[in-house]
Amino acid sequence: LPPRPELDLASLVRTIPDFPKPGIQFRDITTLIGDAAGFSESVRRLSARAAIYRPDYIVAVEARGFLFGAAMATAMGIGLVPVRKAGKLPGVTVGVDYELEYGADRLELHEGAVTAGHRIVLVDDLLATGGTILAAAKLMQSVGAEVAAALFVIDLPDLGGSQRLEAAGLVCETLIA
Ligand code: PRP
Ligand code: ADE
Repeated sequence: LPPRPELDLASLVRTIPDFPKPGIQFRDITTLIGDAAGFSESVRRLSARAAIYRPDYIVAVEARGFLFGAAMATAMGIGLVPVRKAGKLPGVTVGVDYELEYGADRLELHEGAVTAGHRIVLVDDLLATGGTILAAAKLMQSVGAEVAAALFVIDLPDLGGSQRLEAAGLVCETLIA
């Protein structure tokens, strides 16, 4: 699809109150990716920002990060490395535990998928507390990879994620705040 620089991506994201718990305003990206122009334009904008860092890989976080990360990797002509929730990857893994806005979890990476000297860009759909992406960044650094930047479609600025990332020395960019 042709570029649509005027397209308002925020208007394509739906907010669902009290999901998955009372008090959480859930930002639902299924309406954004269900819109052909919206999905294509999201991926174009993310890929353009990611390309600046000349990454060796896009590293995307399960599950919603995969949707955008996979499309970016093919658009950029580079490989995709998935960071998955515990117990999903079949090979030998390295992992890290983390806290969520609404729970706790563990992220894992296939050993050897990214190694020392690789420069990567992290991708996820949404930045809330920053716990997930900080855990993913820690995982990358633990295997010696350079995290050039973390890219998101959506930032929830009230939850302080971008400040936490900045304090940790992570470059972060988002399409929608
Ligand atoms: C959501 C979202 C991010 C994370 C953001 O994922 O996709 O990965 O939470 O929150 P944080 O900045 O507070 O860490 P979730 O764990 O709900 O999993 P899903 O993508 O599998 O639905
Ligand atoms: N992940 C963490 N917080 C979220 C929210 N408010 N909406 C969608 N995904 C989330």
